[in-house]
Amino acid sequence: MENYPVLVTGASTGIGNDITHQLAAQGTLVFATARKEADLQSLSRIDNVIPVRLDVRDPQQLAAAAEQVSRYGHGLYGLVNNAGVGDLGLCSTWTDEELVDIFNVNVFGPFRVTNAFLPMLVESRGRVVLISSQGGMISKKYYGPYTMTKHALEAYSVALRDELSDYGVQVSIVQPGGVVTNIGANSFPGMVRRFQRAQPPFKAEADAVLESFNQPPPPAPETDEESEGNRKPSPPGVVTQAVLDALFAQKPKFRYLVGTRWEGDRVIHALIEKLLDENDNPQHRYSRESLVALLTQKIEARHAGQ
Ligand SMILES: NC(=O)c1ccc[n+]([C@@H]2O[C@H](COP(=O)([O-])OP(=O)(O)OC[C@H]3O[C@@H](n4cnc5c(N)ncnc54)[C@H](OP(=O)(O)O)[C@@H]3O)[C@@H](O)[C@H]2O)c1
Repeated sequence: MENYPVLVTGASTGIGNDITHQLAAQGTLVFATARKEADLQSLSRIDNVIPVRLDVRDPQQLAAAAEQVSRYGHGLYGLVNNAGVGDLGLCSTWTDEELVDIFNVNVFGPFRVTNAFLPMLVESRGRVVLISSQGGMISKKYYGPYTMTKHALEAYSVALRDELSDYGVQVSIVQPGGVVTNIGANSFPGMVRRFQRAQPPFKAEADAVLESFNQPPPPAPETDEESEGNRKPSPPGVVTQAVLDALFAQKPKFRYLVGTRWEGDRVIHALIEKLLDENDNPQHRYSRESLVALLTQKIEARHAGQ
């Protein structure tokens, strides 16, 4: 694995930190990016880890990071675009600057980081992994701009996969559900600011949300079963397992849906609803029988291709 260097963005905490530790522990050379000096210092203390300073919004830091990796002389086999922010709030309360910033980190970041390292990845016939979210497939109230960025990553991943396959570079997209990390705490102040900004007719609703933040958490539900009000976020390690497969499996999957059964059901149901919306169209409509037959045919084609 030491001949397969991998760069992981956003390695200071959470999923990126877990990926970094597990890759390094298996002997992979990891270029682990972080923004803060203290995080770079602590990454430097892990065997097989080379810390790299990188704010994915900063083209100059990116050029310096690419130069640093290139100068190291081992090439680059894998890129894990993990850095991201999870800001939430009513769509009507986002400022232009906030909207541009979340796209800058979550979409333009992986786009420009991939382009910067592409020559090295083509040379090694390597792998690109994008950490998206189940929010790339579904959305709901208060999740507007965050899920918009993850939907954009989905489109990017398809175009990138199709553009790079002829050059030996394989692209995968990982779509976690809830994962226990700092993302909620990091996004909390911005979310509070946005709810405080709400204007009528949304103000009463926003005030009720703000008030709920001051209440003690509701008592634990009696059932262990997962539901909207009884979420069971996964440990970062389940995302790392998917990333390791995407990086090193002989035949990596394109999409890795990661999380609990309840979360997976939610995505599949939403996609079926979307399909039925598309099919509800006077110009073009499959009958129920044709839809079922088409699904059967596609499933069989996949089995045949395995
Ligand atoms: N946790 C979840 O429930 C969940 C679910 C689905 C998808 N995801 C995705 O997983 C990825 C990792 O998130 P996480 O849950 O591990 O959250 P996290 O613990 O908050 O980690 C986010 C990482 O991104 C970095 N980052 C933020 N802004 C950056 C910027 N401008 N330039 C470079 N790095 C930046 C952070 O660095 P700093 O420490 O310097 O801020 C940190 O290393 C994100 O793409 C997120 O959307 C998370």
